[in-house]
Amino acid sequence: MGQPLNVGVVGCGAISAQYLRTIDRLPGLRLAAVADLDPGRAAAAVAPWPGTPVLPVADLMADPGVDVVLNLTVPAAHAEVALQAIAAGKDVYCEKPLAANSADAARVLRAAEAAGVRVGCAPDTVLGTGTQTARKAVDDGLVGRPVAATATMVTPGHERWHPNPDFYYVPGGGPLLDMGPYYVTSLVTLLGPVTSVIGAASRLRGKRTIGSGPRRGEEIPVSVDTHVTGVLVHESGALSTLVMSFDAAATKAPNIEVHGERGSLVVPDPNHFDGVVRLSGVGDEGWRDLPESAGYVAAGRGVGLADLATTPAGQEPRAGGTLAFHVLDVMESLLASAASGAAVTVASTCERPPAVPLLTL
Ligand SMILES: NC(=O)c1ccc[n+]([C@@H]2O[C@H](COP(=O)([O-])OP(=O)(O)OC[C@H]3O[C@@H](n4cnc5c(N)ncnc54)[C@H](O)[C@@H]3O)[C@@H](O)[C@H]2O)c1
Repeated sequence: MGQPLNVGVVGCGAISAQYLRTIDRLPGLRLAAVADLDPGRAAAAVAPWPGTPVLPVADLMADPGVDVVLNLTVPAAHAEVALQAIAAGKDVYCEKPLAANSADAARVLRAAEAAGVRVGCAPDTVLGTGTQTARKAVDDGLVGRPVAATATMVTPGHERWHPNPDFYYVPGGGPLLDMGPYYVTSLVTLLGPVTSVIGAASRLRGKRTIGSGPRRGEEIPVSVDTHVTGVLVHESGALSTLVMSFDAAATKAPNIEVHGERGSLVVPDPNHFDGVVRLSGVGDEGWRDLPESAGYVAAGRGVGLADLATTPAGQEPRAGGTLAFHVLDVMESLLASAASGAAVTVASTCERPPAVPLLTL
């Protein structure tokens, strides 16, 4: 292995601790500096790693000791921060979605291409053993030709636990743009790109009440639909049915199922790295668990950045910008279809990222 990739983290909120632990653990990554609009948050985030430079955002961008900017800001800031990193000649790896809308995401990809830098994007959970074992089962033909999939994510809302949940209820958020990236990225990994969508959406309430932290009890406005459903038509002909909701209490539906002409597969939660894959063939009684057979073992958030670090120059990383753009385009098209009541053609496409062999980093 060559030199570690020096990571500058921008945005040190709720999710940053998981990334900082991964960076600390993996030899291919080194924490170079952190920044946040609130320097106190940045300092608190790196308290376990004394001596880590806490810099203003502009200084982190200009720091020659930073190779890649890890963008963990809120979705509305993703594009602006990514463009700053690219302008400074740095690779950038963003939390999902790649940007709050596909026009901004396209600007990020165009700028990166012109600057000759790389773009990576969450979710990297789908590189773990859960989704990758399921993908291997599909690729090995265990379900036969894939016909359909279902994807279900139901929760009463993240404002119950997140201390600053405003971003979940503005454009760039909502159940689809927040949780959809896990599901749609998993579906594209399993079944390939999407060519058209049909959507419908609704909104239970115009306000939400924060349930934790210093702002507990404060009401925040809701400006996006909070229950989104639809059908994704894959290029292969397979049809995925999606339910993404912040408006329902609970579900017993599997996160994802894939149905093929010879069998059905239960795919683990795409917001987690691992989990059991189950198969039932036509005529089988019950389900059998498949052994872990592919994916990064014992992975955590940030493994996609480590994957980028080991991707040869000129090649798209697995958790890459083109895939993230397609996923955002699919989700935006679904919302456009819900608004118009008509099917929408998805203009973008992508390759399925290369499969991950069973691998411990
Ligand atoms: N919280 C989770 O469980 C979770 C899980 C997976 C992914 N994510 C994703 O991670 C991202 C961040 O989520 P979070 O929950 O950590 O949010 P958060 O609000 O807790 O933290 C975001 C941080 O970014 C900082 N910030 C905002 N704009 C900035 C800018 N222009 N420059 C520098 N700093 C800026 C804020 O001050 C804040 O500290 C989002 O894209 C979210 O979808 C969150």
